[in-house]
Amino acid sequence: MTAPHAGSAPPGPGSAPAEPGSAPAGAEPLLVGEDVHKSFGTTAALAGASLRVDAGDMVAVMGPSGSGKSTLLHCLAGIVPADSGEVRYRGRDLRSMPDAERSALRRREFGFVFQFGQLVPELTCLENVALPLRLERVHRRAAEGRAAEWLDRLEVGDVAGKRPGEISGGQAQRVAVARALVTAPRVVFADEPTGALDSLNGERVMRLLTAAARDTGAAVVLVTHEARVAAYADREVVVRDGRTRADLAVRA
Ligand SMILES: Nc1ncnc2c1ncn2[C@@H]1O[C@H](COP(=O)(O)OP(=O)(O)O)[C@@H](O)[C@H]1O
Ligand SMILES: [Mg+2]
Repeated sequence: MTAPHAGSAPPGPGSAPAEPGSAPAGAEPLLVGEDVHKSFGTTAALAGASLRVDAGDMVAVMGPSGSGKSTLLHCLAGIVPADSGEVRYRGRDLRSMPDAERSALRRREFGFVFQFGQLVPELTCLENVALPLRLERVHRRAAEGRAAEWLDRLEVGDVAGKRPGEISGGQAQRVAVARALVTAPRVVFADEPTGALDSLNGERVMRLLTAAARDTGAAVVLVTHEARVAAYADREVVVRDGRTRADLAVRA
């Protein structure tokens, strides 16, 4: 962990930080992408995207379909390597990390929620939520105990013994959120987590996801094209044609 520069006073009432909601200038952010470029063949998915995420931050990444939101999330999470630019987690460049270390980082420090829960169909909901802990060699009883607590917290304790095919879409997304949070990640990446839900179920997922993240101190990078969903975040970053555009954000 990099300490803030010696002598840098915390921002007082008269000295707003450079970015609202972020740590004082000089402190190393938790996660940062700088001028990230990524192409798939001739398609430039990202052409200069930058995003800073501090501990406990909740940032919504907004933009129309095809603007590069998911690619930005994948680059920040170390799922897809950037062509150029830099992505640093706690001051370390993700690209220079050995693959095994990057995967361990994803398992231990990051949680993921996707549009369609992507639960393992053969496992019960309890086993799905316990899985990330089991992969970290936590004993079954302890892992399932923690999984059960998280299912309760996401108001789906009653479906613990059911398989994903036997529950509703809204329940499945809440199980997916429990699975993302069970390892106490520092960053939760959520890509259109409510995209397949009706508005009532979407609101419930967002309310529970943001409450759980606040309680545990996890930062959230929330990709969405819906203003109603983005409103749950503390601030917004807009992506257009692969570039982050601070000038387009309603709440920077
Ligand atoms: N794996 C891929 N292969 C080829 N093209 C891709 C791939 N992923 C994304 N793209 C393209 O990159 C652009 C940005 O995609 P994406 O990041 O998924 O946008 P969004 O999430 O904002 O809808 C789109 O033109 C998309 O077709
Ligand atoms: Mg997308």
